[in-house]
Amino acid sequence: MTGPASAVDLIRRKRDGGALTADEINWLIAAYMRKRGAIPDEQMTAFLMAVVWRGMAEEETVALTLAMARSGKQLNLRERFPLVADKHSTGGVGDKMTLVVAPVVAACGLPVAKMAGRGLGHTGGTIDKLESIPGMRTDFTADDFTSLVERHGLALAAQSSELAPADGKLYALRDLTGTVESIPLIAASIMSKKLAVGPTDLLLDVKVGRGAFMKTEADARTLAALMVRIGRAAGIRTTATLTAMDQPLGTTVGNALEVQEAIFTLRPTKRLANNPKFWRSDLARLCLHETALLLRSSGLVETLEQGEERAREAIRSGAALAKLDEVIVAQGGYSAIIHEPYHIVAAPVGGALHTQRDGWIAGVAADEVGAIAMALGAGRARKGDPVAPDVGLRIYAKIGANFEKGQLMAAIFAHGEPDLKMAQERLLAAITWSDTPVERPPLILGEVE
Ligand code: URA
Repeated sequence: MTGPASAVDLIRRKRDGGALTADEINWLIAAYMRKRGAIPDEQMTAFLMAVVWRGMAEEETVALTLAMARSGKQLNLRERFPLVADKHSTGGVGDKMTLVVAPVVAACGLPVAKMAGRGLGHTGGTIDKLESIPGMRTDFTADDFTSLVERHGLALAAQSSELAPADGKLYALRDLTGTVESIPLIAASIMSKKLAVGPTDLLLDVKVGRGAFMKTEADARTLAALMVRIGRAAGIRTTATLTAMDQPLGTTVGNALEVQEAIFTLRPTKRLANNPKFWRSDLARLCLHETALLLRSSGLVETLEQGEERAREAIRSGAALAKLDEVIVAQGGYSAIIHEPYHIVAAPVGGALHTQRDGWIAGVAADEVGAIAMALGAGRARKGDPVAPDVGLRIYAKIGANFEKGQLMAAIFAHGEPDLKMAQERLLAAITWSDTPVERPPLILGEVE
């Protein structure tokens, strides 16, 4: 690879709206990753800011993604397994879908190799949720991760620093320099990690709304379509779905609380499983939808209806719960929580919130609920900060629900009375009401092919 005259040339060209070649992008990333810093952070920051303003052509984004994916170890799982799936959510409030979908998909016969992140800001991270299970290990070497997939058909691990290290270094810089918000940079960041794992099938859940990175459906669609094209160009069968994130997903926000809710979704009683209302809950609906998309992508079923039926059966039969149990044991976790999920939430102070009026719920501001959970200690403001496993909120108020004055609307789990009071006041303000019926908003906004 021949390098350009200097990084300054490339920065100037991007600043002025020009495009870089794949060779130039490869050189830039490789030079930035060299130990003795051929490109210092100042120059990379200038380049990233130029991308934020000027954007990138699709070929440039693909080249950037590939350069980042090649910056570390590449697992190429699709060379070892005939079928192996991965899923990724762009992040939301109360988004515990990986804990539900991954065991269901694995129980349907499609192995899942999932590397997940820790939370930052108001959105939670799957790894923080998993680590609220006592003893649960999530830090595996790439080889141990692969062997978990081999033995159990499912691995839930923390993003390995051996994979796409350029993303780790660039993301830390973007976080400090106001350069996170760029569709090509987000697409390259997410997809470089996926390409480094190299599954056969990948499902992207791109969240839209006030609690998500992408605030508008148009931006979410652009990001989703770009990531689908990058994935397919790299030989991964990639599908994306756009889903709503204006109100929290499910009824819980907080690490252990979300694990509990995921377990309850995977183990409905016979009576509950026969109740159509259970299958209409947002968690169950999204789980069936995402499982069906992955099963269809992999060719294990032909239609989404068949895929949803397989998912329903995996839950009804207990096979999905058994798969979660198996992976918790394999990763050193305390698997008794499968049968006693309440064992893992023990915040010292609990409090209820009751409705103060009659009416219909018009809004539950997901971003504010995420911020409340973070203020309670469930999330982190800065990378590396600790999170509390046992705090959070259980919110029964969902958009469209009808309440009478004095009904239980939420429960809060906190480390002290001042936190409890803060959460009660802020949650009251985050919920808006209507005097007339409100329609339940759509959860699944569409697929991106
Ligand atoms: N998630 C990522 O992994 N990268 C981004 O840039 C944004 C969200």
